[in-house]
Amino acid sequence: MTESDRSAGWAAYYQQLRDRPPRKTLLAALDAFGEAPPDAHVIDLGCGDGRDVIEMLRRGWKVVAVDAEPEALRQLQARPLPEGSDVTPVVAQLEEVPIPLGVHLVNSSFAMPLCEPAAFHRTWERIREALPPGGRFSGQWYGPRDSWFGRPGMTFVSREEALALLEGLDVEMFDEEEADGVTPRGNAKHWHIFHIVAKKS
Ligand SMILES: C[S@@+](CC[C@H](N)C(=O)[O-])C[C@H]1O[C@@H](n2cnc3c(N)ncnc32)[C@H](O)[C@@H]1O
Repeated sequence: MTESDRSAGWAAYYQQLRDRPPRKTLLAALDAFGEAPPDAHVIDLGCGDGRDVIEMLRRGWKVVAVDAEPEALRQLQARPLPEGSDVTPVVAQLEEVPIPLGVHLVNSSFAMPLCEPAAFHRTWERIREALPPGGRFSGQWYGPRDSWFGRPGMTFVSREEALALLEGLDVEMFDEEEADGVTPRGNAKHWHIFHIVAKKS
């Protein structure tokens, strides 16, 4: 697949999922904070056109919105943003972007598995290190029975591997979803997903 094919594919994806509600992992993480902490600061890795970002802004969080696709951030900035929104769009690979000091929440919905394993594990280490005590991670990882298993450039972790990666954190959500379904692009797919919210003690 060429770079422009991939970008066109993501642009169609943003169009198709426009106006879907925020992910349940993000909502659970934000709810778990209760009132946003003073200077509440979140980074969204692989934010797409802002499905989750809008909700963070609505609740008064400052957001660093990272995506590899410039089109994602262009579409995010074209959305009606809540008044007083503080969002910094960053076009970057999530495995390379610095995670700002003082971030309370790292959100990555359906994006970390799109990295090859070394980058996935390096990113997870960086997330764990960057979170302060009380900070949270919310997002999805893919399991080995997902029908995309084996695709180059992606990472899949077993339930045991996922739980081992979360060791030492307070796991507030670990929902394993396995179901036949259809991708947003209309292709049949078997999903095997871990929906995760975890807090640094
Ligand atoms: C499945 S979409 C999810 C978008 C959004 N987080 C959501 O939940 O709707 C994955 C997004 O991750 C971005 N992405 C994929 N690999 C990436 C990488 N290595 N670094 C940064 N963004 C990436 C894609 O451009 C796309 O916008």
